[in-house]
Amino acid sequence: GKGLAVLTSGGDSQGMNAAVRSVVRMGIYLGCKVYFIREGYQGMVDGGDNIEEANWSSVSSIIHRGGTVIGSARCTDFMKREGRVKAAYNLVTRGITNLVVIGGDGSLTGANLFREEWAGLLDELLENNKITKDQREKYKFLHIAGMVGSIDNDFCGTDMTIGTDSALHRIIGAIDAIVSTAYSHQRTFIMEVMGRQCGYLALVAALAGEADQVFIPEDPVPNNWVEKLCKRLQQERKSGQRLNIIIVAEGAIDREGKPITAELVRKVVVDNLQQDTRITVLGHVQRGGSPSAFDRILGCRMGAEAVMALMEASPDTEPCVVSLDGNQAVRLPLMECVRRTKAVAQAMADKNWDLAVQLRGRS
Ligand code: F6P
Repeated sequence: GKGLAVLTSGGDSQGMNAAVRSVVRMGIYLGCKVYFIREGYQGMVDGGDNIEEANWSSVSSIIHRGGTVIGSARCTDFMKREGRVKAAYNLVTRGITNLVVIGGDGSLTGANLFREEWAGLLDELLENNKITKDQREKYKFLHIAGMVGSIDNDFCGTDMTIGTDSALHRIIGAIDAIVSTAYSHQRTFIMEVMGRQCGYLALVAALAGEADQVFIPEDPVPNNWVEKLCKRLQQERKSGQRLNIIIVAEGAIDREGKPITAELVRKVVVDNLQQDTRITVLGHVQRGGSPSAFDRILGCRMGAEAVMALMEASPDTEPCVVSLDGNQAVRLPLMECVRRTKAVAQAMADKNWDLAVQLRGRS
């Protein structure tokens, strides 16, 4: 059978285990020899016990677990060619020429570079007598399929990344919990949620959690935001509301690019309205705990699709990223999606918010 390996890289997210499970089982079903690569790219560079053959039962009882059971890491060795030579050796000597990478845009960019260099890496190994001519010939093509695991939903090309839905469940649970205590004491709560440069979690949580205000990076507040915020909070209290909820995305900014932090918002509310105000920073709670049904199914579907893409790949097939388009799992050109994702970051850095939002759109 064909050699196929799966790794998870970058920040973990709920649903990654469902994806790993699906890759392993679909791979075995289609007659592949499937391997786990533990600790992300670091495990691929280090080899040894980090690369282990998987079987049907080695992925039993993981679908309900958060995080990634095969470990993840941010790896600097793989960024150097020397590290990638070692990684290529570890794959070739095990007959692995199909790789599934579950991670964010950085991890997927690394995978693409590895594939582009593959022939050169094998030549170097052959010159140094690390592999045989037969191995050089037999394993001359490397196929890559990516899946995006991230709670941020910050990748262009897919409607949802694996983990976003679970993170939202965690955030909504926290808002509901805060609302009950806020109600008792007639308090205002400012909740900071994750999302790096992406306001998706904050925006959806604010809508579903009935927040009074949300601050996100893609829609920086105008200069008179203090006035507007205070007016709104006051109005709501006057109309009988006992509490206020304000969601602040961790990357929120004003039009000059200065951070809008939870502490800054708290100060504004206290100084202007003298409301009893507290801050809750949700932090990594959002990335933990059991995956939602949606993320489990998403991981399962994407994992199966990734393996099928690899099995159908010919030598000149471009690496793909498996994405969700509406309710369909589709294959998109990996590098095009990565390029668009990076263009969004650039547009944000250039303070071109409209372009950023437009680029992040579906098609
Ligand atoms: O990308 C996922 C994420 O959780 C972001 O929302 C957050 O900004 C970042 O990772 C936190 O990184 P770390 O886990 O390294 O603190």
